[in-house]
Amino acid sequence: MTGSKTIDIARIRADTPFCEQRIHLHNSGSSLMPLPVFDATRQHLERDYRMGGYEAAAAARDDIAMFYDESARMFGCDSSEIAFMENATAAWNAVFYGFARTLRAGDRILTANAEYASNYIAYLQIARQTGCDIVAVPDDAAGQIDVRVLESMIDERVKLISITHVPTNGGLVNPAAAVGAVARRHRIPYLLDACQSAGQMPLDVDGIGCDAMSMTGRKYLRGPRGTGILYVRESAMDQLPPATLDLWGASWTSAGCFELQAGARRYENFENNVAGQVGLGVALRYANDLGLDTIFDRIRQLGTYVRGRLSRIDGVTVRDKGRVQCGIVTFTHDRVDATTIREGMAAAGINVGTSGAASTRLDMEQRGIDVLVRCALHYFNTEAELDTFCERLAELVS
Ligand SMILES: Cc1ncc(COP(=O)(O)O)c(C=O)c1O
Repeated sequence: MTGSKTIDIARIRADTPFCEQRIHLHNSGSSLMPLPVFDATRQHLERDYRMGGYEAAAAARDDIAMFYDESARMFGCDSSEIAFMENATAAWNAVFYGFARTLRAGDRILTANAEYASNYIAYLQIARQTGCDIVAVPDDAAGQIDVRVLESMIDERVKLISITHVPTNGGLVNPAAAVGAVARRHRIPYLLDACQSAGQMPLDVDGIGCDAMSMTGRKYLRGPRGTGILYVRESAMDQLPPATLDLWGASWTSAGCFELQAGARRYENFENNVAGQVGLGVALRYANDLGLDTIFDRIRQLGTYVRGRLSRIDGVTVRDKGRVQCGIVTFTHDRVDATTIREGMAAAGINVGTSGAASTRLDMEQRGIDVLVRCALHYFNTEAELDTFCERLAELVS
C-alpha cells in the first residue's frame, strides 16, 4: 500500500446500502452512487419540482460551484478549465470535432490499439471528410502503447495524439504521462479519454501533460448517469475551439459578431442536467476526501486478488494487459461464452458486464477475442464478495 490513508470499508458500505443486496462488479458500466450523492441529486430534483427549474438552479449556485471546484481539486487544474457535459462522449466530441476542422489530407492522428469505438468512429468520419490518416501506435511487450515507437512516428504530419487511458475492455492502464511527455516535446495537441480512469486513480493534468481530457460521471466517479466532465488547458483553448456553440458558450455581441465565453464553459450548453451536476459535485468531493491514491491502492489490491483466484479456475483465461493494471478484470472461458457467464452471474445476484469486439476492434481482433467478461470492481467491494463471485463462476463453468 502506498496511499497515505486506508478506507473504512464498513462506513463506505453503509453509504452504499444496495451493495448488500447484490454483488456489484459492473463499475465500469455504471457504479453504485453513495447515499450522499443520491441525496444531493434527489434534493435538487425536489427543488426543481417545488421551485421551478431556473429558480432551483439559482438556489443551487454554491452546489454547482462545488462541481467545478472539486473537479479542479481532483485533476490539479483551475476550475475555469472544467466544463460540465452530459457524458464522456459529448466531452470528447466537443474538443475533437472542433479541432478536426483544421485537419487536411495527409495529416495524421496518432492513437493507440485499445482505442474506444466511439472515438475511432469519429476519426474514421473525419478521415473520410478530410483525407487525414489514422495511425494506431503498436503495443509494447506488456500490451500498453509503445511510447518509444510513438516518438519515432512523430513528424510534421502528426497533428494530434489521442488515446484512451483505460480501455473499455480490460485492466490496461496506458502510460498517459509518458505519452504526454512526447506530445509536449514535439508540441502536438494531446487529447486523453480518461472515461474509465477518472475516480479510479489519481489524474493530474500537469503530470499527464494533456491538453484536454474527457470523463464520465457514472463509472468510477460514482456520480449520477447522464453526467460528464471535460478538462481543457487554458493555453490550448484557442487551438481547440468548441465543435458547436450556443448562447451559453458564446455571446451574440452585435448583429454580425459573437464572443466566446471565458474558460471551458464555452464547451457547455445552456440547458443541462443540474441535478446531475450537483450530484456529481458531491461524488467528486466524496472521492477526493477518500483520496485517489488510497482508492487506487485498494482497487489494485482487489484486482490482483481476483486475477489470482480466477486464473486457478479450470478453463478461465485472464485477459488483462499492461504493466499497470486497474480494477477492470477481464477473462474468457474456453467452453462457456461470456454472455452465458454474465447471465449466470446475474441469476446468482452478481452484476458483471461483457465487452464485445466492436467496442475496441483493433485490440480485440489482434488478440482474436470476440467477447469477454468484464468484472469491474471498486474500492467498496470486498475479498469475500470476490470469493463468492469466483465460487459461483467455478460452479457455473463446471
Ligand atoms: C474508454 C471509454 N471512453 C468513452 C466511453 C463513453 O462514455 P459515455 O458513455 O459516458 O459517453 C466509454 C464508455 O464505456 C469508455 O469505456
